Formats: sequence, structure tokens, C-alpha cells
Amino acid sequence: MTAAALPPSASVTVRAPAKINLHLGVGAAREDGYHPLSTVYQAVGLYDDVTVTEAEGWSVELVRADDAVPLDGENIAIRAGRLLAEHHGLDLAAAISIDKGIPVAGGMAGGSADAAATLVALDRLWDLRTPDDALLSLAAELGSDVPFALVGGTALGTGRGEIVEPVQDRTECWWVVVHSDRGLSTPSVYERFDVVAPDASVEPEVPVALLGALEEGDVAALGAALGNDLWAPARDLRPDLAEVEADLRSMDPIGLLLSGSGPTLLMLYDNVDAARRALVDVVDLGLQASIAPGPVAGVHLVTYGSA
Ligand code: C5P
Repeated sequence: MTAAALPPSASVTVRAPAKINLHLGVGAAREDGYHPLSTVYQAVGLYDDVTVTEAEGWSVELVRADDAVPLDGENIAIRAGRLLAEHHGLDLAAAISIDKGIPVAGGMAGGSADAAATLVALDRLWDLRTPDDALLSLAAELGSDVPFALVGGTALGTGRGEIVEPVQDRTECWWVVVHSDRGLSTPSVYERFDVVAPDASVEPEVPVALLGALEEGDVAALGAALGNDLWAPARDLRPDLAEVEADLRSMDPIGLLLSGSGPTLLMLYDNVDAARRALVDVVDLGLQASIAPGPVAGVHLVTYGSA
């Protein structure tokens, strides 16, 4: 079917998962300002649903309003749509609607998920059949985490995080995702990293023990190997996190981790019942939290048809 053959109200909905970094090794800033990474991403079961519908001009709306998300041309979903249209030399636009289940500015790559979902949804809506390697390079232009949102599962990320290579992950993880009432800006956490880690290496190391734990399906070994070089700078910017961390640690999770650049915190369990019990305790502390399994699939189609 060609784009012209679609009925005017045709729409496509695509679902994209949140990501966490089981390991986030950060090196000294490169000349372009980005930091070299050696990271292990895992896609986890919190999702944004992105629906695209043909329209005369670009627009984006949130099903549930959130002031922290820009709704103008700065929105990463609109940038993704424009980039895909430009790549194919097309003068097309779309109305984008986002149902957010991923915390905003929480260090779980919600914006990147929206960008990846928009690429796939518009590729279907316009019947462009963009090859995967072209989609991945458009994704990398949009942001360091966007290619991983396309791939999902568990993957090693290098470069500035945009080069992704799937890795064997036999674990079944259950994460208690502890939300924060305020977000943290990723660039400011990286800037703070430069201050707290002036001697960072040029090339961060690949986390061999962690990759072994994933391959063995050993959640206890994974818990011991979790690590995030952005944790110290995030704590510097948000000293209140230390207190929450202490409370969470006292519940004795298999592992505790800051998600990406934060401020979301993650408690690791190896079964859903233990995760549910921990969730009750976290909520009793007055914190907001949810449960997410991992690993899960990357961006995938939910519905395709007339609106
Ligand atoms: O690539 P993305 O636009 O998602 O990155 C957002 C910001 O995070 C960058 O502008 C940069 O400040 C910081 N960043 C970094 N090194 C990376 C990834 C992101 O310094 N590898």
C-alpha cells in the first residue's frame, strides 16, 4: 500500500519500553562533549504508547498531561517524525499522541522511547519500509539511547551509547522502580560527573563479571555486579537521594541501582512475589513505586488500522 492509498484517518500505535543501565561505565568527555560509555542496557516493562495519525501539520499531545514534556517542535517525537520524512524526501506530517507510562526525566529514557516508537509508527503509517540499519542510524541522530529502544532486550552499548550489540541474558529480573517527585537533567548530571571524576579513563571497561552473570542467569551475581558511574554526581545534585537509598537498602534487595542519570532508583528481585512485598514496604514509606520485569522486547506494533 502506498501512503496515498491510506484512508485519511489511518493511525498506528507502537509501544516502547523504558530502559535501565545494569552497568553504566562513563569515560572522560570527548571533544564533542559526549562521554564514551561502556554500558549494559536492559529494557524493562514500563511503556509509552505512541499513536500517529496523518495530519496537515505536526502536533504532539499527551494523553495524560505532564508539564515537564515540551509539546512544540522541540519534542523528540516530532523531531523523529521530521527526520524520517526528510530522510525519504517527503513533505508529510502527522499528529502524535503519547500515553506515558515511563517516568519523565527519571533516567529511564522515556523521550528516547517516544522517538524510537515514532520512527517505527510513521514508517508503518507511510509504508516506507525503511531498512533496519537506516532506522538505527536515524535513531542515533536523535539521541544516544534511541537505538537501544528499537532493539530492546539486553544489549551492550558503546560509543556514546548509540552502538548497541545484543547480549545473552538468561536472568528473570523483577525491578521495584522507585519514582522521584522531581526529575534530574541528564546534561547536568554528566557535567557534575566531570567535576567528581576528573581522572576518568578515556575508555571505560567492559563489565565482564556482569555479562557472565547475565549469561548464567544468576540474579544474585547480577545484583553484586550492578554499577553506575553517574550515581555519585546524581547524589551530589540531589542529596535527598542518599536518605531514600538508605531506606531501600535496609529492605535488603538483591541489588540497588540508580537508573541512568537518575533520580529513579531500582531494587532488584528474582521473583514477582518478593518484588510485590517490597513494593508495599516502599509505598508505606510514602514513596511512589511500580514493578517492572526485565528484560522485555524493544519497540513493537500494537495496533494498525483506521482510527
Ligand atoms: O544523546 P542525548 O541527546 O540523549 O544526550 C543528552 C545529553 O546527555 C547530551 O547533550 C550530553 O550532555 C549528555 N550525554 C553525554 N554523554 C553521553 C550521552 C549523553 O555527555 N554518552
